[in-house]
Amino acid sequence: MTPVIELEQLVKNYHLEGQTVRVLKHIDLQIFENDFVAIMGPSGSGKTTLMNILGCLDTPTSGTYRLSGHEVDRLNRNELARIRNQEIGFVFQAFNLLPNTSAIRNVELPMIYAQRSKSERREMALGLLEYVGLGDRIKHRPHQLSGGQKQRVAIARALANDPSLILADEPTGNIDSLTGEKILNLLEDLHDEGRTIVLVTHEEAVGSRARRLIRIRDGQIESDEQQGSRQEMVAG
Ligand SMILES: Nc1ncnc2c1ncn2[C@@H]1O[C@H](COP(=O)(O)OP(=O)(O)OP(=O)(O)O)[C@@H](O)[C@H]1O
Ligand SMILES: [Mg+2]
Repeated sequence: MTPVIELEQLVKNYHLEGQTVRVLKHIDLQIFENDFVAIMGPSGSGKTTLMNILGCLDTPTSGTYRLSGHEVDRLNRNELARIRNQEIGFVFQAFNLLPNTSAIRNVELPMIYAQRSKSERREMALGLLEYVGLGDRIKHRPHQLSGGQKQRVAIARALANDPSLILADEPTGNIDSLTGEKILNLLEDLHDEGRTIVLVTHEEAVGSRARRLIRIRDGQIESDEQQGSRQEMVAG
């Protein structure tokens, strides 16, 4: 079976004021269709950097990244934009919702690039907001929503074009455990529907819910283990 994601000797360095910051150090990784992966590791260990590369928002310094068998480095800008928009749903660590823009409009935006009609976009966005439990908040703007609600709008937006791969960076960060539980249930449903899920978390209870747990330390994979059946998230 071809992995959805395949990294070979992936390296990411940043250059800052004449210094090289080595963030990802020769990472080898394969993620298969319908995997449900949690990535954990200390702050600054390279999780977001890795997710940004997986989401084609950033490029590696060296090594290869194959997405569904295609070497990302060799794709042209149009192909890359299409994949980013249609194959991948990205939930950012800081939500990245457009301010002063209603929830429904935020969810509709990715669909504009996918050339759906206006009425189709409205209907789909409404359905997605209902799916994440925000059918009664569609006109609210981000600053009128709670943290957990913003996170759910961000998830609805990530689902706009029905991507098969969902990348979520701290989807339950900065929210209470009950809202976190709802978001996790949502991701589990998406997994049950056949999607591939990769999430980053600093909460052990969230990490234990995934089928596979990868620990990153100092830019390297420290451990990578399959986990048993789902455990209930421990409250608090
Ligand atoms: N644009 C950049 N230029 C220079 N260094 C960067 C840049 N982006 C990230 N870094 C550095 O790379 C390292 C990894 O950052 P990253 O955001 O991937 O960490 P993280 O594991 O997601 O941490 P957190 O748990 O706090 O979100 C950090 O030491 C950070 O300072
Ligand atoms: Mg991060």
